[in-house]
Amino acid sequence: MRCFTQVLCILYALVFATIPQVFALADIRQSSLNVGNGVQLAYLDSGVPPRHASPYTTVFALHGEVYYSPIFQKIIDLAPSANVRFVAITRRDYNGSTPYDASEIQVLSNGTSSEKAAFLQARGSEIVNFIDTFNKIHDLPPISSDGQEGGIALLGWSFGNAFTLATLSNIHTYAAPLKNLLVSRLRALILHEPVPFALGTPIAPGSWWPQIDDSISVDIQGPATVQWLTSYFQHGNISTRDPSVLSLILPSIARPPSIFNMTQSQVDGMTNIAPSLGSDEFLIVNGAPQLLDSYRSALFNASIRNALPRMKASLIAGDMSLQFGITGLWNVQEDDEAAGGGFVNFTVVHGFNHFALWDEPGKIMALYAGSL
Ligand SMILES: *[C@@H]1O[C@H](CO)[C@@H](O)[C@H](O)[C@H]1NC(C)=O
Ligand SMILES: *[C@@H]1O[C@H](CO)[C@@H](O)[C@H](O)[C@H]1NC(C)=O
Ligand SMILES: *[C@@H]1O[C@H](CO)[C@@H](O)[C@H](O)[C@H]1NC(C)=O
Ligand SMILES: *[C@@H]1O[C@H](CO)[C@@H](O)[C@H](O)[C@H]1NC(C)=O
Ligand SMILES: *[C@@H]1O[C@H](CO)[C@@H](O)[C@H](O)[C@H]1NC(C)=O
Ligand SMILES: *[C@@H]1O[C@H](CO)[C@@H](O)[C@H](O)[C@H]1NC(C)=O
Repeated sequence: MRCFTQVLCILYALVFATIPQVFALADIRQSSLNVGNGVQLAYLDSGVPPRHASPYTTVFALHGEVYYSPIFQKIIDLAPSANVRFVAITRRDYNGSTPYDASEIQVLSNGTSSEKAAFLQARGSEIVNFIDTFNKIHDLPPISSDGQEGGIALLGWSFGNAFTLATLSNIHTYAAPLKNLLVSRLRALILHEPVPFALGTPIAPGSWWPQIDDSISVDIQGPATVQWLTSYFQHGNISTRDPSVLSLILPSIARPPSIFNMTQSQVDGMTNIAPSLGSDEFLIVNGAPQLLDSYRSALFNASIRNALPRMKASLIAGDMSLQFGITGLWNVQEDDEAAGGGFVNFTVVHGFNHFALWDEPGKIMALYAGSL
């Protein structure tokens, strides 16, 4: 670019130097896709990686409670260098995606078992429709002949696992082209710290978090949770799977909570507290039996796993996470053993917390890529 005066040059330099920071996180621009029934799902897309020579893999990721798609921003920034296209899908009720309507909320607050199971089926169907539409627009690379590249992966982080698992557990209900898309393209499921709330499993006795503490005034329960969740916790020997080794409440001072590595505008730009008090909470409290069925079917039902012969399944957890990350790990380990073992590969990372995707994005990106 030519600039005519020194002043203009300095202006250009200032403007172009600040754009990446402005766009980096404070002002996330999501796109969105229509997934049927008038529902839009917003998303962030890292785009086509530069190394066109080998087929890239597309990872579709579902966020947890409170922190939504922009929490994946550092992973999105690193994905191209790992030959991954990373697409973070924003769940219903979170900023940019269609809120649940009154009848859907009614099912969550007061539905029958079959209505709640149908609710999960509908979420799975939306995600498969999203993948199908995204694939039609972008013509994603299929799985390579050696099975090592291309194709797609599903990744759930935290409560987001409820939705990736519902996508798989309902595979037999999708129209043939959608089912075949998963059968032919899906080569990995990544469970990044599934919490018991996502699995429909019970939480440890004595569990605490600010949102359930009535001694904390209602207006700061949410913000207090947003901070506390990001702490590091020093647990005892977690190989014992004994809940008494868990630090249920007290964070460790070994490392500052991840939120200390976020600016206020980043926190504001990647958190929505309202859905965590509404639809997510209803699903957790009233939908646990359906979530449990869905999780167990997705991972351990032979008819479902046999339908997805190319899909690897991996669970990644840090040993300094809030206790829900540890109890979720134990739940899946126990169920895997009870089912005969080998359904899931487990990786426990020393020193990582629930927000390792923020504090240690390079290592987490490598673990994701290594799970493909
Ligand atoms: C939703 O995201 C947009 C930016 O995409 C932002 O301007 C707006 O404040 C956000 N709203 C909420 C409720 O987070
Ligand atoms: C749930 O259903 C019961 C009766 O089946 C009704 O009394 C109650 O008002 C309903 N609650 C909500 C939140 O819809
Ligand atoms: C941790 O617990 C496991 C399982 O009980 C045990 O095998 C291992 O020796 C323990 N490690 C330490 C350092 O105590
Ligand atoms: C496995 O899933 C299939 C299809 O959804 C279902 O018909 C079958 O009953 C399930 N098997 C078990 C053991 O739950
Ligand atoms: C676990 O990892 C091994 C080695 O990469 C792989 O051969 C196997 O298929 C994986 N198992 C699952 C369930 O993904
Ligand atoms: C903040 O995050 C960066 C990675 O984005 C990491 O290198 C650094 O160690 C983190 N700082 C703290 C205090 O956790």
